[in-house]
Amino acid sequence: MLSKKMEAALNEQIKVEADSSQVYLSMASWAEIKGLEGIAQFMYKHSDEERAHMLKLVKYVNERGGHAKISALKDPKTEFGTFQKMFEELYQHEIFVSNSINELVHVSLGEKDYATHNFLQWYVAEQIEEEALARSILDKIKLIGNDKGGLYLFDRDIQQINVESAASPNMGM
Ligand code: FEO
Repeated sequence: MLSKKMEAALNEQIKVEADSSQVYLSMASWAEIKGLEGIAQFMYKHSDEERAHMLKLVKYVNERGGHAKISALKDPKTEFGTFQKMFEELYQHEIFVSNSINELVHVSLGEKDYATHNFLQWYVAEQIEEEALARSILDKIKLIGNDKGGLYLFDRDIQQINVESAASPNMGM
């Protein structure tokens, strides 16, 4: 059985993951209308992944005798300026999510809830991968600079990342 404090903290994370899904969906839509097809596909997939992260938490909270609360979401931004800035925002967002997961781990230890602590290790590992992925993309973007041919290849290559999965820290890039 979850403590009230643990349940509330997990419910906060449900909101964070759902908001993340909305943020990346908004990025996908922006990229799509800018003709950045590969980037759009990458962001649609990322949005789906965040929804999966949210659902995993919902199931866990209910399984442990809590009540996963589904709440209203924040309006995400709809304009991102440049794709470079958009990926920088993605990276910063993942750092925010990592901090949020770390706080949850902290609460689980305080509550001596070792089952939840164990459950959260999946998220800890996932955040390492997501941050590494975002950093490798930003490195690639820096290499491209303002080269149009480079952007063309980047937009094409980033679709491969979707296929290969984000499981490897090198992402084939
Ligand atoms: Fe669910 Fe990208 O963190």
